[in-house]
Amino acid sequence: MLSNLAVRDIETVLHPNTNLAQLRETGPLVLERAQGIYVYDKDGKAYIEGMAGLWCTSLGYGNEELVEAAAQQMRKLSYAHLYNGRSHDPAIELAEKLKEMAPVPISKVFFCNSGSEANDTQIKLVWYMNNALGRPKKKKIIGRMKGFHGLTLGAASLTGLPHNHTDFDLPLPGFIHTSCPHHYRYAHEGESEEDFASRLAHELEELIVKEGPETVAAFIAEPVMGAGGVIVPPKTYFTKVMAVLNRYDVYMIADEVICGFGRLGRAFGCEVVGFKPHGISIAKALSSAYLPIAGVMVPEDMYQALVAESAKIGTFGHGFTYAGHPVAAAVAVKTLEIYARDRIFAKVATMIPQFQTRLMALGEHPLVGEARGLGFMGGVELVADKTSKRAFDPKRGVGARCVRFAEEEGLIVRLLPGDTISVCPPLIITPDELNELFDRFRRALDRTLDWARHERLFAS
Ligand SMILES: Cc1ncc(COP(=O)(O)O)c(C=O)c1O
Repeated sequence: MLSNLAVRDIETVLHPNTNLAQLRETGPLVLERAQGIYVYDKDGKAYIEGMAGLWCTSLGYGNEELVEAAAQQMRKLSYAHLYNGRSHDPAIELAEKLKEMAPVPISKVFFCNSGSEANDTQIKLVWYMNNALGRPKKKKIIGRMKGFHGLTLGAASLTGLPHNHTDFDLPLPGFIHTSCPHHYRYAHEGESEEDFASRLAHELEELIVKEGPETVAAFIAEPVMGAGGVIVPPKTYFTKVMAVLNRYDVYMIADEVICGFGRLGRAFGCEVVGFKPHGISIAKALSSAYLPIAGVMVPEDMYQALVAESAKIGTFGHGFTYAGHPVAAAVAVKTLEIYARDRIFAKVATMIPQFQTRLMALGEHPLVGEARGLGFMGGVELVADKTSKRAFDPKRGVGARCVRFAEEEGLIVRLLPGDTISVCPPLIITPDELNELFDRFRRALDRTLDWARHERLFAS
């Protein structure tokens, strides 16, 4: 029986990124309040927020310092924009802090409100820059199969997930996708990680040559793929990819929307997986998701090209009403202050071995084909047969069932494509809470296994 609120939801809310038909049967999980790493539904049931919302609530819930930063800024200057050369303290301070933290030299920060806007902005900046540099044909952008970069038209075109393209008439022309660096699924029989990385870099090079290097402008990558299934690239992958990109003067965009701000134990994910991007997209943990704010970090040579073009044609005509919103910017400044003061990234680094040990132990479970992850990101891929890696029939909804069992156990995890279940807790989680999270996760897997056997989906 669906609750009154659930019925009202179904009658009124069109949900993003949701199986709309299934939702009409199951109804939504309606949350009411939250504190620390816990969220509570409208019946008062507590759940560990094992996904930090959508990979974003890094400082957890109910942080009074962030609430206070927002309230103070609302009282002082509740809104101001950055159009036509206007500005305000919080945006300036935030940009300064971000420049200091950046993993590569950057010149300016362009603010926006979401990861998708950040990645759309990257596309537009690259196009504008290449026009400014007199190479109007150099416009194609390469993403990766299973990459996720958001869902506005440009960002969704960068994304490499079929359910984000089908029937939306996407990707748009000029967006291409190269192979996904997932060794477990895509390596050839007996191929080492190293050889797999070399093959993928070679394929990328062939793609650039086939398309014509004079037409290929940029490449975008998450340091660790999130929504595509928590996919960690082989160790040498990015070094090899960067060599190819540099050979053909292709601009490298790091999508740090998930990995940025401590998720992998350092400020930026690219520092952990070992590459130096030209441009960087940030969002989510920038404000610990207390308010929407995102940004694009722009290198000096791109900035100079933008200025030169603007000098020629006038207004640099890109931006958003709420870009660098002072309240969101003030909260982001406070968030960065807390990360530094409380040494959050270093604390995460000390807890990563515990996280990864507990995660990898799930790999022994009969249902789990692969447990994988890096830093405080993890995924377990459920399979019908461990030896052959045979997946379950997607129609049987095994992963969805596991997520429901986890909810019954008081844990929020997320189903990703290919029956992969992800975990990505708030960075403030304690060692005891982390153990509790994985205990609940294991119980959910056990219950899924019992159910799958009962349904004759799992033979052994
Ligand atoms: C890596 C990455 N980039 C971009 C986005 C899009 O961000 P938003 O949903 O804020 O538009 C996401 C969202 O999950 C993401 O994971």
